[in-house]
Amino acid sequence: MAMDGDTRPNDLSAFWMPFTANRQFKKEPRMFVSADRMHYRTSDGRAVLDGTAGLWCCNAGHNRPKIVEAIQKQVAELDYAPAFQMGHPKAFELATKLVDMAPEPFEHVFFTNSGSESVETALKIALAYHRAKGQGERTRLIGRERGYHGVNFGGISVGGIVTNRKMFGTLLNGVDHLPHTHLPDRNRFVRGQPEHGAELADELERIVALHGGETIAAVIVEPMAGSTGVLLPPKGYLKRLRDICTKHGILLIFDEVITGFGRLGSSFAAEHYGVMPDLITCAKGLTNGVIPMGAVLATKEIHDAFMNGPEHVIELFHGYTYSGNPIAAAAGLATLETYAEEGLFARAAGLADYWADALHSLKGLPHVVDIRNEGLIGAVELEPIEGAPTKRAFSAFLKAYDKGILVRTTGDIIAMSPPLIIEKEHIDTLVGTLADVLRQID
Ligand SMILES: Cc1ncc(COP(=O)(O)O)c(C=O)c1O
Repeated sequence: MAMDGDTRPNDLSAFWMPFTANRQFKKEPRMFVSADRMHYRTSDGRAVLDGTAGLWCCNAGHNRPKIVEAIQKQVAELDYAPAFQMGHPKAFELATKLVDMAPEPFEHVFFTNSGSESVETALKIALAYHRAKGQGERTRLIGRERGYHGVNFGGISVGGIVTNRKMFGTLLNGVDHLPHTHLPDRNRFVRGQPEHGAELADELERIVALHGGETIAAVIVEPMAGSTGVLLPPKGYLKRLRDICTKHGILLIFDEVITGFGRLGSSFAAEHYGVMPDLITCAKGLTNGVIPMGAVLATKEIHDAFMNGPEHVIELFHGYTYSGNPIAAAAGLATLETYAEEGLFARAAGLADYWADALHSLKGLPHVVDIRNEGLIGAVELEPIEGAPTKRAFSAFLKAYDKGILVRTTGDIIAMSPPLIIEKEHIDTLVGTLADVLRQID
Protein backbone atom coordinates (compact mmCIF):
# COMPACT_ATOMS: atom_id res chain seq x y z
CA MET A 1 0.00 0.00 0.00
CA ALA A 2 3.02 2.32 0.11
CA MET A 3 2.63 5.32 -2.20
CA ASP A 4 5.30 6.64 -4.60
CA GLY A 5 8.02 8.36 -2.63
CA ASP A 6 6.71 6.88 0.60
CA THR A 7 9.53 5.26 2.49
CA ARG A 8 7.31 3.52 5.07
CA PRO A 9 7.10 -0.27 4.79
CA ASN A 10 4.20 -1.74 2.88
CA ASP A 11 2.48 -2.62 6.10
CA LEU A 12 -1.13 -3.15 7.09
CA SER A 13 -0.37 -3.83 10.71
CA ALA A 14 -1.16 -0.46 12.29
CA PHE A 15 -4.89 -0.52 11.58
CA TRP A 16 -6.62 -2.87 14.08
CA MET A 17 -9.69 -3.61 12.01
CA PRO A 18 -13.17 -3.83 13.57
CA PHE A 19 -15.12 -7.11 13.54
CA THR A 20 -12.45 -8.58 11.26
CA ALA A 21 -10.21 -11.62 11.31
CA ASN A 22 -7.17 -9.31 11.24
CA ARG A 23 -4.48 -11.93 10.68
CA GLN A 24 -6.34 -13.59 7.84
CA PHE A 25 -7.16 -10.24 6.23
CA LYS A 26 -3.60 -8.97 6.38
CA LYS A 27 -2.37 -12.14 4.67
CA GLU A 28 -4.94 -11.81 1.89
CA PRO A 29 -6.20 -8.20 1.87
CA ARG A 30 -9.48 -7.33 0.20
CA MET A 31 -9.41 -3.65 -0.70
CA PHE A 32 -12.10 -1.52 -2.29
CA VAL A 33 -10.84 1.63 -3.93
CA SER A 34 -13.98 3.05 -5.55
CA ALA A 35 -17.69 2.44 -5.92
CA ASP A 36 -20.51 3.42 -8.26
CA ARG A 37 -24.19 2.52 -7.98
CA MET A 38 -24.32 -1.31 -7.56
CA HIS A 39 -20.59 -2.05 -7.77
CA TYR A 40 -17.37 -1.72 -5.86
CA ARG A 41 -14.01 -1.76 -7.59
CA THR A 42 -11.10 -3.57 -5.96
CA SER A 43 -7.45 -2.49 -5.79
CA ASP A 44 -6.72 -5.11 -8.47
CA GLY A 45 -9.31 -3.57 -10.78
CA ARG A 46 -12.18 -6.05 -10.44
CA ALA A 47 -15.85 -5.07 -10.18
CA VAL A 48 -17.67 -6.56 -7.19
CA LEU A 49 -21.47 -6.53 -7.08
CA ASP A 50 -22.63 -5.10 -3.77
CA GLY A 51 -25.00 -7.64 -2.24
CA THR A 52 -24.97 -5.98 1.18
CA ALA A 53 -25.37 -2.23 0.55
CA GLY A 54 -21.96 -1.83 2.17
CA LEU A 55 -22.93 -2.80 5.72
CA TRP A 56 -26.70 -2.60 5.22
CA CYS A 57 -26.38 1.15 4.81
CA CYS A 58 -25.96 2.33 1.18
CA ASN A 59 -29.64 1.86 0.38
CA ALA A 60 -29.49 4.21 -2.63
CA GLY A 61 -26.34 2.56 -3.98
CA HIS A 62 -22.97 4.28 -4.33
CA ASN A 63 -21.69 7.58 -5.62
CA ARG A 64 -25.12 9.15 -5.88
CA PRO A 65 -24.71 12.65 -7.39
CA LYS A 66 -27.20 14.46 -5.18
CA ILE A 67 -25.54 13.21 -2.00
CA VAL A 68 -22.01 13.84 -3.26
CA GLU A 69 -22.87 17.41 -4.29
CA ALA A 70 -24.72 18.16 -1.05
CA ILE A 71 -21.67 17.17 0.98
CA GLN A 72 -19.26 19.10 -1.21
CA LYS A 73 -21.41 22.22 -0.99
CA GLN A 74 -22.00 21.95 2.75
CA VAL A 75 -18.37 21.46 3.71
CA ALA A 76 -17.46 24.68 1.88
CA GLU A 77 -20.35 26.63 3.43
CA LEU A 78 -20.57 25.59 7.09
CA ASP A 79 -18.16 22.85 8.11
CA TYR A 80 -19.11 22.57 11.75
CA ALA A 81 -21.37 24.29 14.24
CA PRO A 82 -21.45 23.57 17.98
CA ALA A 83 -24.10 21.00 18.72
CA PHE A 84 -24.90 22.29 22.23
CA GLN A 85 -26.83 25.55 22.76
CA MET A 86 -26.33 26.49 19.08
CA GLY A 87 -28.06 25.36 15.92
CA HIS A 88 -27.80 25.40 12.16
CA PRO A 89 -30.71 25.15 9.72
CA LYS A 90 -30.00 21.80 8.09
CA ALA A 91 -30.27 19.77 11.32
CA PHE A 92 -33.76 21.20 11.92
CA GLU A 93 -34.71 20.64 8.29
CA LEU A 94 -33.56 17.03 8.42
CA ALA A 95 -35.40 16.37 11.69
CA THR A 96 -38.60 17.71 10.13
CA LYS A 97 -38.12 15.59 7.00
CA LEU A 98 -37.53 12.50 9.14
CA VAL A 99 -40.65 13.16 11.16
CA ASP A 100 -42.62 13.62 7.91
CA MET A 101 -41.33 10.28 6.68
CA ALA A 102 -41.76 8.35 9.93
CA PRO A 103 -45.01 6.78 11.15
CA GLU A 104 -47.43 9.22 12.71
CA PRO A 105 -46.70 9.12 16.43
CA PHE A 106 -43.08 10.14 15.95
CA GLU A 107 -42.68 13.90 16.20
CA HIS A 108 -39.15 14.47 17.54
CA VAL A 109 -35.63 13.48 16.58
CA PHE A 110 -32.44 13.25 18.66
CA PHE A 111 -29.33 13.00 16.46
CA THR A 112 -26.40 10.66 17.14
CA ASN A 113 -23.49 9.40 15.01
CA SER A 114 -24.09 5.67 14.75
CA GLY A 115 -26.47 2.87 15.48
CA SER A 116 -24.66 2.07 18.72
CA GLU A 117 -25.07 5.63 19.93
CA SER A 118 -28.72 5.63 18.92
CA VAL A 119 -29.25 2.58 21.11
CA GLU A 120 -27.50 4.14 24.11
CA THR A 121 -29.51 7.30 23.57
CA ALA A 122 -32.85 5.46 23.37
CA LEU A 123 -32.11 3.43 26.52
CA LYS A 124 -31.17 6.60 28.41
CA ILE A 125 -34.25 8.46 27.17
CA ALA A 126 -36.42 5.56 28.34
CA LEU A 127 -34.90 5.59 31.82
CA ALA A 128 -35.04 9.37 32.10
CA TYR A 129 -38.62 9.50 30.78
CA HIS A 130 -39.89 7.29 33.60
CA ARG A 131 -37.96 9.32 36.11
CA ALA A 132 -39.40 12.56 34.68
CA LYS A 133 -42.85 11.03 35.09
CA GLY A 134 -42.18 10.20 38.75
CA GLN A 135 -41.50 6.49 38.14
CA GLY A 136 -37.80 6.39 38.89
CA GLU A 137 -38.06 2.79 40.10
CA ARG A 138 -38.41 1.68 36.48
CA THR A 139 -34.74 0.91 35.86
CA ARG A 140 -34.73 -2.54 34.28
CA LEU A 141 -34.09 -3.01 30.57
CA ILE A 142 -35.19 -6.07 28.63
CA GLY A 143 -33.49 -7.21 25.44
CA ARG A 144 -33.65 -10.47 23.53
CA GLU A 145 -31.34 -13.41 22.92
CA ARG A 146 -29.50 -13.07 19.60
CA GLY A 147 -30.34 -9.35 19.50
CA TYR A 148 -27.76 -6.93 18.13
CA HIS A 149 -27.84 -3.37 19.41
CA GLY A 150 -24.36 -2.19 18.56
CA VAL A 151 -21.25 -2.52 20.63
CA ASN A 152 -21.40 0.00 23.45
CA PHE A 153 -22.05 -1.14 27.00
CA GLY A 154 -25.81 -0.56 27.00
CA GLY A 155 -26.15 -2.17 23.61
CA ILE A 156 -24.18 -5.31 24.45
CA SER A 157 -25.99 -5.60 27.79
CA VAL A 158 -29.43 -5.72 26.18
CA GLY A 159 -27.98 -7.49 23.14
CA GLY A 160 -27.93 -11.25 22.99
CA ILE A 161 -25.06 -12.25 20.74
CA VAL A 162 -22.81 -14.21 23.05
CA THR A 163 -19.50 -13.47 21.31
CA ASN A 164 -20.19 -9.74 21.56
CA ARG A 165 -20.73 -9.95 25.32
CA LYS A 166 -18.63 -12.64 26.89
CA MET A 167 -15.23 -10.89 26.91
CA PHE A 168 -16.49 -7.69 28.47
CA GLY A 169 -17.22 -8.25 32.10
CA THR A 170 -20.46 -7.88 33.95
CA LEU A 171 -22.12 -5.28 31.72
CA LEU A 172 -25.17 -3.31 32.92
CA ASN A 173 -27.12 -4.38 35.98
CA GLY A 174 -30.83 -5.06 35.87
CA VAL A 175 -31.05 -6.48 32.37
CA ASP A 176 -33.04 -9.54 31.35
CA HIS A 177 -33.64 -11.17 27.98
CA LEU A 178 -36.57 -12.52 26.04
CA PRO A 179 -35.96 -15.77 24.17
CA HIS A 180 -35.03 -15.40 20.51
CA THR A 181 -37.65 -16.27 17.92
CA HIS A 182 -35.72 -18.75 15.78
CA LEU A 183 -37.65 -22.04 15.64
CA PRO A 184 -35.98 -23.93 12.79
CA ASP A 185 -37.88 -27.15 13.41
CA ARG A 186 -41.21 -25.38 12.90
CA ASN A 187 -40.35 -22.59 10.47
CA ARG A 188 -37.71 -23.86 8.04
CA PHE A 189 -37.58 -22.45 4.44
CA VAL A 190 -40.50 -20.10 5.09
CA ARG A 191 -41.02 -17.17 2.73
CA GLY A 192 -41.45 -14.00 4.77
CA GLN A 193 -42.77 -14.04 8.31
CA PRO A 194 -42.97 -17.45 9.97
CA GLU A 195 -46.32 -18.80 11.14
CA HIS A 196 -45.08 -20.17 14.46
CA GLY A 197 -43.73 -18.43 17.51
CA ALA A 198 -46.03 -15.49 18.40
CA GLU A 199 -46.41 -17.05 21.85
CA LEU A 200 -42.72 -16.35 22.53
CA ALA A 201 -43.77 -12.74 23.22
CA ASP A 202 -45.65 -14.03 26.27
CA GLU A 203 -42.27 -14.69 27.87
CA LEU A 204 -42.37 -10.99 28.68
CA GLU A 205 -45.22 -11.75 31.10
CA ARG A 206 -42.93 -14.26 32.81
CA ILE A 207 -40.19 -11.62 33.11
CA VAL A 208 -42.75 -9.11 34.42
CA ALA A 209 -43.93 -11.63 37.02
CA LEU A 210 -40.34 -12.29 38.06
CA HIS A 211 -39.18 -8.68 38.47
CA GLY A 212 -42.42 -6.73 38.81
CA GLY A 213 -43.64 -4.76 35.81
CA GLU A 214 -43.27 -1.51 37.75
CA THR A 215 -39.47 -2.00 37.76
CA ILE A 216 -39.12 -2.32 33.98
CA ALA A 217 -38.33 0.77 31.90
CA ALA A 218 -38.17 -0.60 28.39
CA VAL A 219 -38.05 -3.57 26.07
CA ILE A 220 -35.73 -3.23 23.08
CA VAL A 221 -35.89 -5.50 20.05
CA GLU A 222 -34.97 -5.39 16.41
CA PRO A 223 -38.34 -5.82 14.67
CA MET A 224 -36.41 -8.03 12.26
CA ALA A 225 -33.16 -9.28 13.75
CA GLY A 226 -30.56 -8.61 11.07
CA SER A 227 -27.02 -9.07 12.36
CA THR A 228 -27.70 -12.43 13.99
CA GLY A 229 -28.61 -13.80 10.58
CA VAL A 230 -32.00 -12.41 9.52
CA LEU A 231 -34.63 -13.70 11.94
CA LEU A 232 -38.10 -12.49 11.03
CA PRO A 233 -40.74 -11.85 13.65
CA PRO A 234 -43.31 -14.66 13.77
CA LYS A 235 -46.76 -13.50 12.69
CA GLY A 236 -48.48 -11.72 15.58
CA TYR A 237 -45.33 -11.61 17.76
CA LEU A 238 -44.62 -7.87 17.64
CA LYS A 239 -48.26 -6.97 18.30
CA ARG A 240 -48.27 -9.23 21.37
CA LEU A 241 -45.07 -7.64 22.63
CA ARG A 242 -46.61 -4.20 22.12
CA ASP A 243 -49.76 -5.17 24.02
CA ILE A 244 -47.86 -6.57 26.99
CA CYS A 245 -45.63 -3.48 27.16
CA THR A 246 -48.68 -1.21 27.08
CA LYS A 247 -50.42 -3.25 29.76
CA HIS A 248 -47.49 -2.80 32.15
CA GLY A 249 -46.48 0.77 31.24
CA ILE A 250 -43.21 -0.43 29.69
CA LEU A 251 -41.75 1.48 26.74
CA LEU A 252 -41.14 -0.49 23.55
CA ILE A 253 -38.05 0.43 21.52
CA PHE A 254 -37.62 -0.81 17.98
CA ASP A 255 -33.99 -0.85 16.90
CA GLU A 256 -34.40 -0.02 13.22
CA VAL A 257 -30.76 0.58 12.40
CA ILE A 258 -31.04 -1.99 9.60
CA THR A 259 -34.77 -2.00 8.90
CA GLY A 260 -35.10 1.78 8.60
CA PHE A 261 -35.15 3.50 5.20
CA GLY A 262 -36.86 1.05 2.94
CA ARG A 263 -35.13 -2.23 3.64
CA LEU A 264 -38.46 -4.02 4.05
CA GLY A 265 -40.31 -1.88 1.49
CA SER A 266 -41.60 0.78 3.91
CA SER A 267 -39.95 3.74 5.61
CA PHE A 268 -39.59 1.75 8.84
CA ALA A 269 -40.40 -1.80 9.96
CA ALA A 270 -42.91 -0.31 12.42
CA GLU A 271 -44.96 0.73 9.40
CA HIS A 272 -44.28 -2.50 7.52
CA TYR A 273 -45.47 -4.67 10.41
CA GLY A 274 -48.17 -2.23 11.58
CA VAL A 275 -46.90 -2.12 15.17
CA MET A 276 -45.85 1.17 16.75
CA PRO A 277 -43.10 1.31 19.36
CA ASP A 278 -42.47 4.33 21.61
CA LEU A 279 -38.93 4.98 20.37
CA ILE A 280 -37.20 4.09 17.11
CA THR A 281 -33.44 3.99 16.67
CA CYS A 282 -31.93 4.42 13.23
CA ALA A 283 -28.61 5.17 11.49
CA LYS A 284 -27.01 3.63 8.38
CA GLY A 285 -29.51 4.41 5.59
CA LEU A 286 -30.20 7.83 7.13
CA THR A 287 -27.20 9.20 5.21
CA ASN A 288 -26.86 6.30 2.77
CA GLY A 289 -23.87 5.28 4.90
CA VAL A 290 -21.83 8.10 3.39
CA ILE A 291 -21.30 10.17 6.55
CA PRO A 292 -21.78 8.72 10.04
CA MET A 293 -25.13 9.71 11.50
CA GLY A 294 -27.83 8.11 13.60
CA ALA A 295 -31.06 9.25 15.20
CA VAL A 296 -33.65 8.36 17.80
CA LEU A 297 -37.26 9.12 16.93
CA ALA A 298 -39.51 9.88 19.88
CA THR A 299 -43.23 10.35 20.30
CA LYS A 300 -44.64 13.66 21.47
CA GLU A 301 -45.54 12.12 24.79
CA ILE A 302 -41.97 11.08 25.53
CA HIS A 303 -40.45 14.33 24.34
CA ASP A 304 -42.96 16.51 26.17
CA ALA A 305 -42.37 14.73 29.47
CA PHE A 306 -38.97 16.48 29.53
CA MET A 307 -40.17 19.93 28.54
CA ASN A 308 -40.83 21.43 31.93
CA GLY A 309 -38.93 23.25 34.66
CA PRO A 310 -37.15 26.61 34.21
CA GLU A 311 -36.60 27.40 30.53
CA HIS A 312 -32.90 28.16 30.86
CA VAL A 313 -32.17 24.64 32.16
CA ILE A 314 -31.09 21.81 29.84
CA GLU A 315 -33.89 19.24 29.72
CA LEU A 316 -31.87 16.14 28.81
CA PHE A 317 -28.23 15.88 29.87
CA HIS A 318 -27.15 13.89 26.85
CA GLY A 319 -25.68 14.61 23.41
CA TYR A 320 -22.62 14.26 21.22
CA THR A 321 -20.19 16.80 19.77
CA TYR A 322 -21.33 15.69 16.33
CA SER A 323 -25.09 15.38 16.99
CA GLY A 324 -26.71 16.85 13.87
CA ASN A 325 -23.33 17.69 12.29
CA PRO A 326 -23.88 20.01 9.29
CA ILE A 327 -22.23 17.76 6.73
CA ALA A 328 -24.08 14.69 8.00
CA ALA A 329 -27.33 16.67 7.98
CA ALA A 330 -26.71 17.77 4.38
CA ALA A 331 -25.98 14.16 3.43
CA GLY A 332 -29.15 13.05 5.23
CA LEU A 333 -31.31 15.58 3.44
CA ALA A 334 -29.90 14.63 0.04
CA THR A 335 -30.34 10.94 0.89
CA LEU A 336 -34.00 11.29 1.87
CA GLU A 337 -34.58 13.30 -1.31
CA THR A 338 -32.93 10.59 -3.38
CA TYR A 339 -35.13 7.91 -1.77
CA ALA A 340 -38.25 9.97 -2.43
CA GLU A 341 -37.41 11.07 -5.99
CA GLU A 342 -36.57 7.54 -7.06
CA GLY A 343 -39.37 5.90 -5.07
CA LEU A 344 -36.84 3.47 -3.64
CA PHE A 345 -38.94 2.12 -0.76
CA ALA A 346 -41.75 1.18 -3.14
CA ARG A 347 -39.14 -0.20 -5.49
CA ALA A 348 -37.88 -2.52 -2.74
CA ALA A 349 -41.45 -3.65 -2.07
CA GLY A 350 -41.97 -4.26 -5.79
CA LEU A 351 -38.86 -6.43 -6.06
CA ALA A 352 -39.50 -8.43 -2.88
CA ASP A 353 -41.22 -11.34 -4.63
CA TYR A 354 -38.56 -11.64 -7.30
CA TRP A 355 -35.92 -11.53 -4.57
CA ALA A 356 -37.74 -14.21 -2.57
CA ASP A 357 -38.08 -16.51 -5.60
CA ALA A 358 -34.39 -16.11 -6.42
CA LEU A 359 -33.24 -16.81 -2.88
CA HIS A 360 -35.49 -19.80 -2.36
CA SER A 361 -34.20 -21.31 -5.61
CA LEU A 362 -31.07 -22.13 -3.57
CA LYS A 363 -32.99 -24.71 -1.56
CA GLY A 364 -31.53 -28.16 -2.15
CA LEU A 365 -27.99 -26.91 -2.88
CA PRO A 366 -25.15 -28.36 -0.79
CA HIS A 367 -25.00 -27.28 2.89
CA VAL A 368 -28.20 -25.18 2.78
CA VAL A 369 -30.37 -25.85 5.85
CA ASP A 370 -32.64 -22.80 5.80
CA ILE A 371 -33.50 -19.74 3.72
CA ARG A 372 -35.22 -16.61 5.06
CA ASN A 373 -36.34 -13.41 3.35
CA GLU A 374 -38.39 -10.25 3.70
CA GLY A 375 -38.36 -7.05 1.61
CA LEU A 376 -34.85 -6.81 0.17
CA ILE A 377 -33.13 -8.80 2.86
CA GLY A 378 -32.30 -12.46 2.85
CA ALA A 379 -30.29 -15.16 4.55
CA VAL A 380 -29.03 -18.57 3.55
CA GLU A 381 -28.15 -20.70 6.55
CA LEU A 382 -25.50 -23.39 6.10
CA GLU A 383 -24.87 -26.56 8.03
CA PRO A 384 -21.75 -25.80 10.12
CA ILE A 385 -18.63 -27.91 9.65
CA GLU A 386 -18.44 -30.16 12.68
CA GLY A 387 -15.97 -28.75 15.19
CA ALA A 388 -15.36 -25.60 13.11
CA PRO A 389 -18.36 -23.32 13.37
CA THR A 390 -18.36 -20.26 11.02
CA LYS A 391 -15.65 -21.75 8.77
CA ARG A 392 -17.97 -22.90 6.00
CA ALA A 393 -19.73 -19.56 5.69
CA PHE A 394 -16.42 -17.71 5.82
CA SER A 395 -15.12 -19.87 2.94
CA ALA A 396 -18.29 -19.02 1.04
CA PHE A 397 -17.72 -15.31 1.67
CA LEU A 398 -14.13 -15.50 0.39
CA LYS A 399 -15.08 -17.49 -2.71
CA ALA A 400 -17.98 -15.15 -3.39
CA TYR A 401 -15.62 -12.18 -3.27
CA ASP A 402 -13.25 -13.92 -5.69
CA LYS A 403 -16.18 -14.47 -8.04
CA GLY A 404 -17.25 -10.82 -7.86
CA ILE A 405 -20.07 -10.61 -5.32
CA LEU A 406 -20.10 -9.13 -1.83
CA VAL A 407 -22.12 -11.02 0.78
CA ARG A 408 -21.90 -10.95 4.58
CA THR A 409 -21.63 -13.80 6.99
CA THR A 410 -22.58 -14.14 10.60
CA GLY A 411 -21.98 -17.50 12.20
CA ASP A 412 -22.76 -19.98 9.41
CA ILE A 413 -25.38 -17.73 7.86
CA ILE A 414 -24.88 -15.81 4.62
CA ALA A 415 -26.83 -12.56 4.72
CA MET A 416 -27.67 -10.26 1.84
CA SER A 417 -29.25 -6.81 1.78
CA PRO A 418 -28.52 -5.14 -1.56
CA PRO A 419 -28.98 -1.47 -2.40
CA LEU A 420 -32.63 -0.75 -3.22
CA ILE A 421 -31.61 0.34 -6.74
CA ILE A 422 -30.79 -3.29 -7.59
CA GLU A 423 -32.06 -4.54 -10.96
CA LYS A 424 -33.44 -8.03 -11.60
CA GLU A 425 -30.30 -8.95 -13.59
CA HIS A 426 -28.20 -8.09 -10.55
CA ILE A 427 -30.36 -10.35 -8.39
CA ASP A 428 -29.82 -13.14 -10.92
CA THR A 429 -26.06 -12.57 -10.85
CA LEU A 430 -25.92 -12.40 -7.07
CA VAL A 431 -27.94 -15.53 -6.46
CA GLY A 432 -26.50 -17.42 -9.45
CA THR A 433 -22.95 -16.74 -8.28
CA LEU A 434 -23.85 -17.75 -4.74
CA ALA A 435 -25.25 -21.02 -6.10
CA ASP A 436 -21.88 -21.70 -7.80
CA VAL A 437 -20.08 -20.87 -4.58
CA LEU A 438 -22.22 -23.30 -2.57
CA ARG A 439 -21.50 -26.06 -5.09
CA GLN A 440 -17.74 -25.41 -4.86
CA ILE A 441 -17.05 -25.06 -1.13
CA ASP A 442 -16.42 -27.97 1.23
C1 LIG B 1 -30.00 -3.34 14.86
C2 LIG B 1 -28.68 -2.66 14.99
N1 LIG B 1 -28.46 -1.82 16.01
C3 LIG B 1 -27.30 -1.18 16.15
C4 LIG B 1 -26.28 -1.35 15.25
C5 LIG B 1 -24.98 -0.65 15.46
O1 LIG B 1 -24.76 0.32 14.51
P1 LIG B 1 -23.32 0.99 14.37
O2 LIG B 1 -22.41 -0.06 13.82
O3 LIG B 1 -23.58 2.14 13.44
O4 LIG B 1 -22.91 1.47 15.72
C6 LIG B 1 -26.47 -2.20 14.15
C7 LIG B 1 -25.39 -2.41 13.17
O5 LIG B 1 -25.45 -3.27 12.33
C8 LIG B 1 -27.69 -2.88 14.03
O6 LIG B 1 -27.89 -3.73 13.03
